[in-house]
Amino acid sequence: VAYLDCVGWREVAAAIASLAVRGAPAVGLAGAYGVALAAREASGRASGGRTAGPAEVEEAAAALRAVRPTAVNLGWAVDRTLAAWRRGGPEAAAAAAVGLHAEDRDRCEAIAAVGAPLLREGSRVLTVCHTGALATGGCGTALGIIARAHREGRLERLFVCETRPHLQGARLTMWECGQLGIPATLIVDAAAAHVMRTAGVTAVLAGADRIAANGDVANKIGTYALAVLARHHGRPFYVAAPGSTFDAETPDGGAVVVEERDAEEVRGQAAPAGCDVSNPVFDVTPASLVTAYITERGVKEEAAACWT
Ligand code: MRU
Repeated sequence: VAYLDCVGWREVAAAIASLAVRGAPAVGLAGAYGVALAAREASGRASGGRTAGPAEVEEAAAALRAVRPTAVNLGWAVDRTLAAWRRGGPEAAAAAAVGLHAEDRDRCEAIAAVGAPLLREGSRVLTVCHTGALATGGCGTALGIIARAHREGRLERLFVCETRPHLQGARLTMWECGQLGIPATLIVDAAAAHVMRTAGVTAVLAGADRIAANGDVANKIGTYALAVLARHHGRPFYVAAPGSTFDAETPDGGAVVVEERDAEEVRGQAAPAGCDVSNPVFDVTPASLVTAYITERGVKEEAAACWT
């Protein structure tokens, strides 16, 4: 476990860019605190004596919003904190960021409470990426549900896709499962179909980075494949996300900007240097493959019901 102290907004932006902080809600909260730090610098009260003008707060907000394009939570949280700063200065920005953090904690608890009953006695769940405490302001989204079902004695086993190329499943979900005592088995992403067919998977549960107005879900690369598998095997495919992940401005998945990251993440040590690589780190699951959306407002079969 390593802690990274960011005392200026540029350090926050760099932490988001390098995935030191990642996961849609956590990225949003980091962006909010980044705006609050920029506001503090602009007021001349930053540590280290560096001061900045109000224009830099607007620039910082624009820069933070642009660091990662796919998770809507980033722009959502940055815009709210910026609006608070415009109304009430640096104290208001700081209060807004702290408030968003507290709200996210409550949303995670609510998502876990409404989602856990979907996982019945003897559940064997397949998940992807990382959706736990390190990805949110609270106990997590999909992993929060899974952890609660485990505490309530109904989770038999969790299968965790390692989530190439950044290995969020292997490095983060497996670590959190260890902390929480969740019985978890790590699989390579390519084993998902085999595990679906042979390991008695009862449900697939994923998080989301952006849910379009029509219910299409942008989430970590590999999620779409799991949704197709779930449909093929007649198993439910659930998406857990807070209201801040629903984006009424994006009509459907085709309008989602899918982040493309550095080719070296994929080449690693194994591929020939300089070989052609495609590295989209998110994909879009059509709404038709989603059994239900689990939000702080309840379990809804239609995305439209999540806005009301
Ligand atoms: O690239 P990442 O690690 O930020 O991607 C994260 C995911 O895709 C998560 O599933 C999603 O943000 C939900 S986190 C509660």
